[in-house]
Amino acid sequence: MSQTNAHVIVVGNEKGGSGKSTTALHLAIYLLHQGYRVGTVDVDSRQQTLTRYVRNRRETARSAGRDIPLPSHLHVPTAWGDSISENQQAERNVFDRSLADMRESVDFIVIDTPGFDSNLARTAHAMADTLVTPLNESMIDLDVLARIDDQSGEPIQTSPYSRTVQKARAERLARTGTGIDWVLVRNRISHLNSRNAEQVQTTIEKVAASLGCRVAEGIAERVIFRSLFTQGMTVFDPLDADLLGSTPSMSHVNARLEYRSLVSALRLPVKLPVPRADNEGEGSARASA
Ligand SMILES: Nc1ncnc2c1ncn2[C@@H]1O[C@H](COP(=O)(O)OP(=O)(O)OP(=O)(O)O)[C@@H](O)[C@H]1O
Ligand SMILES: [Mg+2]
Repeated sequence: MSQTNAHVIVVGNEKGGSGKSTTALHLAIYLLHQGYRVGTVDVDSRQQTLTRYVRNRRETARSAGRDIPLPSHLHVPTAWGDSISENQQAERNVFDRSLADMRESVDFIVIDTPGFDSNLARTAHAMADTLVTPLNESMIDLDVLARIDDQSGEPIQTSPYSRTVQKARAERLARTGTGIDWVLVRNRISHLNSRNAEQVQTTIEKVAASLGCRVAEGIAERVIFRSLFTQGMTVFDPLDADLLGSTPSMSHVNARLEYRSLVSALRLPVKLPVPRADNEGEGSARASA
């Protein structure tokens, strides 16, 4: 891969708590385990979840005395001057400069964005080669993309977030001649097959068709994600109690398979291995829900 041609993955959705930061770290760590050089960027200056996730990872590696791959991480700090427009310009300058430097030294850049509209989030969206939008399994999450007609279940109006993405796409097309590959991903999918889940799936397909994006296989709801965050770990890391902070379980293995399918569906410029559950992991997993 060319040194100045890093592939940019933006994880975005103006709906809070849909799984952006979790997905961002998982994609970054997957790519690191594949041997790529990866930079991560946190433009969520308020919560800084991805920054804390990476910090937790560094701390776990240190305390376990283990050598685990870490991305080059950048957090764009909030500018606190009196003028909003000057602050936005200052943040934008830091972002542009840092991203230009990062492009020189990595193969992939993964950018995590906040669950609300911000100047920097828009700038980041316009940089995306691939845009990943995690959605929870609810009609409320779909409402962030399009207004759905109650009777017909058809999308009838584009939402502000979708308009932001369409604008970013147009900007990018004018600048580079290529659009953004936008992929919707269902996250925290319930293990129970409910009527609501079926309705959401059908509606997602319709919304995707109306917005010109794709839908990827999703990730199930699993309690392991809580401790993965505090340890700074992902399902792609070794299944080792020292790193996970708990006994590895079948839930880790199953989640790894799902994330593998997701990466495969993203069609990133990588040579993907055939999905297997035991590739990156060491140690054993016990059965659990
Ligand atoms: N598949 C999953 N199963 C269970 N919990 C999950 C899953 N994915 C994410 N979570 C949990 O959901 C919560 C929100 O996830 P995350 O912080 O990644 O969302 P976010 O979209 O980045 O939120 P925000 O908009 O606030 O930045 C976290 O507690 C995370 O551990
Ligand atoms: Mg987040």
